[in-house]
Amino acid sequence: MNITTQATKPILVLGATGKTGRRVLARLTARGVPTRAGSRSAQPRFDWEDRSTWASALRDAKSVYISYYPDIAVPGAVETVGSFAELAVTSGVPRLVLLSGRGEAEAEHAEQAVRDSGAELTILRSTWFAQNFSEDYLLEHVLSGEVALPGGDTPEPFVDADDIADVAVAALTDDRHIGQLYELTGPRLLTFAEAVGEIAKATGREVRYLPVSLDEYAAAAAGQGVPAEVVELLTYLFSEVLDGRNSRVADGVRRALGREPRDFAAYARDARASGVWDAPAANGAD
Ligand SMILES: NC(=O)c1ccc[n+]([C@@H]2O[C@H](COP(=O)([O-])OP(=O)(O)OC[C@H]3O[C@@H](n4cnc5c(N)ncnc54)[C@H](OP(=O)(O)O)[C@@H]3O)[C@@H](O)[C@H]2O)c1
Repeated sequence: MNITTQATKPILVLGATGKTGRRVLARLTARGVPTRAGSRSAQPRFDWEDRSTWASALRDAKSVYISYYPDIAVPGAVETVGSFAELAVTSGVPRLVLLSGRGEAEAEHAEQAVRDSGAELTILRSTWFAQNFSEDYLLEHVLSGEVALPGGDTPEPFVDADDIADVAVAALTDDRHIGQLYELTGPRLLTFAEAVGEIAKATGREVRYLPVSLDEYAAAAAGQGVPAEVVELLTYLFSEVLDGRNSRVADGVRRALGREPRDFAAYARDARASGVWDAPAANGAD
C-alpha cells in the first residue's frame, strides 16, 4: 500500500450526526481530511443493529471514530462494540478512537472488548457533556424553565463536546495518541444547580434546577411519553454515575491538546448565541 493511497482513505466517523460525531466530521472536513459519515441516514447506511451494514462502512477506511448509540453502558453494548472492533481489525482498519463514559463499569468492559480486538486504540473516557442541555434530553427542561433531575447536589465537571471533538481529531490524525486513555472533563466542578445558574445567566431566561428523587423523575419521564428503555438508561446514569465518583476534574484535554478545557460559562454563551434556547418549549411553556 503506498502513501498516496493511505492519504486518500477516508476516516469513518460513527454517530456522524450526533453531538460529538458531527463536530468530528466538520473538523476533519475543514482540514481537508477525507471522511465517511457512519449512521443510519448515511450512504452507505451504518446501523449498530444490522451487522450486514458494517463491512461496507469499513471498506478501505483508514481509521474509525466510534461513538456507540444509545449509550456505551447499555446491555449488549460490550458485545456489539467488541464485535465491530474485531471486524474493523480483521478488515485492515486497526486504528480506532473510542468514545467511552467515565465511572461506568459497563463502559470499561466495552473499552476492554475493543482493546481485546488488537486495535491501535485511543480511548476518550468522557464525563457528562455540557451539550446535553442544548442538543439532547435536557433541552426541553431548559426551555420549560425547570430542570427537574435526580442530580442532588453532586458536583460534576461537565465537558464541552467541542473539546471531545478536538481530542478525537488529534487522535485520528496523529499516531502519537495510540495507546492513550484520556479522561475528558471540563476545568471545574459544577452542581446541576450551578450549571443551570450559568445557563440562566447566559440566556437571561428564568430557569432553575429542581432536585427530585429517582422515582419522581422516572414517573414524570414515563408520563411525558419517554420510552421505557430511555427512562431506564437515564435513571441508571443518575443513580450509578452521579454518586460523587466523578466529582474531580481530570487532565485528559490538557494531555491530549496542550491547552485547558473550555469552561461551562463559555459553552453557555456559545449555545445561547446559536439560538437553541430561544425557542418556546414544545409543551407550550415559555
Ligand atoms: N451524553 C453524555 O453526557 C455522554 C457522556 C459520556 C459518554 N457518552 C457516550 O457518547 C455516545 C453517544 O455519542 P454522542 O452523544 O456524540 O451521539 P448522539 O448525539 O447520541 O448521536 C446519535 C448518533 O447515532 C446515530 N445513531 C442512532 N441510532 C443508530 C443506530 N442504530 N446505528 C447507527 N447509528 C445510530 C445517529 O444518527 P442516525 O439517526 O442517522 O442513525 C446520530 O448520529 C454514547 O456511547 C454515550 O455512552 C455520552
